[in-house]
Amino acid sequence: MTVAFVTGATGFTGKALVADLRKRGITTIAHVRPDSRDLAKWRESFSALGAEVDTTPWDLTAMTATLQRLQVDLAFCCVGTTRSRMKAQGEAANSYEAVDFALPKLLADASAKAGTVTRVVYLSSLGAGPKAQGAYLQWRWKAEEAVRAAGVPWTIARPSIITGQRDEERPSEAFAGTALDGVLGVLGALGAKTLRDRYKSTTDARLAGALARLALDPAAANQVVLSENLS
Ligand SMILES: NC(=O)c1ccc[n+]([C@@H]2O[C@H](COP(=O)([O-])OP(=O)(O)OC[C@H]3O[C@@H](n4cnc5c(N)ncnc54)[C@H](OP(=O)(O)O)[C@@H]3O)[C@@H](O)[C@H]2O)c1
Repeated sequence: MTVAFVTGATGFTGKALVADLRKRGITTIAHVRPDSRDLAKWRESFSALGAEVDTTPWDLTAMTATLQRLQVDLAFCCVGTTRSRMKAQGEAANSYEAVDFALPKLLADASAKAGTVTRVVYLSSLGAGPKAQGAYLQWRWKAEEAVRAAGVPWTIARPSIITGQRDEERPSEAFAGTALDGVLGVLGALGAKTLRDRYKSTTDARLAGALARLALDPAAANQVVLSENLS
């Protein structure tokens, strides 16, 4: 029996990933932060998908014990903050360093210590790299490095823009996805197909399917997977 543990399960991609894993018949635990104001709602919606909810705090010892207790094979990290969250909920607890870097690192370290996890799948972003511009992509790169260094097989996914029907309004993201795909469509027609495939947007459902597939694929161990292979 394969057991998957999804952090960031309450997010756009995380929710789709829980649904996809359940459709594959995989035992799935949706991690929800213990202080979530919507815990009751999440319990109900994940239970409807046949997934359990876990509320282990983001603490290395506690997370290691949970992964061990649940005998987790596949640990997914789909967490991430935004500038609007930082403004609304406070910079200290919601900075890129505190969320986009520290939480994937903690999950990867806990996975290595637990000894049951065969793959950590980290949802990063296109553009992450040692010379990335901007705080977001720089912290994403540091998180990738931490995942690689943890000592457990990993897969890192770097999607371009993620589109689809969000509960939360993000008009700039939707506009960017449409505009980007329009420009890339023209480039593709002009022959720049590699460029088009590298940067084209994906949907939450397609990305979730790709993350689940990659987690189960031995050939995807210790690989960085770019947009063209995340649809
Ligand atoms: N959206 C895009 O176009 C895009 C493109 C490329 C890469 N990415 C990356 O892909 C990842 C997933 O994107 P998404 O759009 O699915 O994200 P999302 O909907 O914003 O979900 C973010 C998740 O992170 C959790 N989270 C945020 N702050 C937290 C904190 N302080 N402590 C614990 N959990 C916290 C949220 O939990 P709560 O619900 O409890 O707040 C939620 O589960 C992100 O990390 C993003 O950077 C996104």
